[in-house]
Amino acid sequence: MNAIGSPYTVAASRRMTPERYEHVLAVAACAAELAELHGGDRREAETAGLLHDYARELAAEELLQIAESRGLIRYELERRVPVLLHGPVGAILVRSELGVESLSVLRAIETHTVAAPGMDQLAKIIYLADLIAEGRNCPIAKKLRMVAPDDLDQALRLALAFSIRYLLKTGKLIHPQTVAAWNYFLDKR
Ligand SMILES: [Fe+2]
Repeated sequence: MNAIGSPYTVAASRRMTPERYEHVLAVAACAAELAELHGGDRREAETAGLLHDYARELAAEELLQIAESRGLIRYELERRVPVLLHGPVGAILVRSELGVESLSVLRAIETHTVAAPGMDQLAKIIYLADLIAEGRNCPIAKKLRMVAPDDLDQALRLALAFSIRYLLKTGKLIHPQTVAAWNYFLDKR
């Protein structure tokens, strides 16, 4: 698969291992497909898919340092689990380094790991595509692949429930924004 004729492929590949680059290409393709099915913007979906892990290879200290200097830290647990910051830091970097200005794309990159209440269509698509793109085999992927083409909100609820259940089961911290997203999308039913 090749991406897509996007102007951002080279920039993305420079920031990533070949494996991760393959993953973002798969997410971009999956997101473009979902956007088309749901009447969204295919181009924006490709861009967000390609760039969602732009900051994923940064070391924890670097993520923390950028997040601190840009005032991105909102919860103490982000200092304890700096990898959770690769979304917000990625959004900042693709804006400053690549000139991406679409708020929807930036927000989708920002929220793709911990989710957020009020995620727009593109943010939902990227969150889901990250779980169901080719090469992903999380236990809920199969179910999500069936639901996402019809109902993004329902797929998102399933994904959030899975994620929260997994975090509880494995005794991990849960980002408050993930819980807020769960409450928000449950109310939307
Ligand atoms: Fe990510």
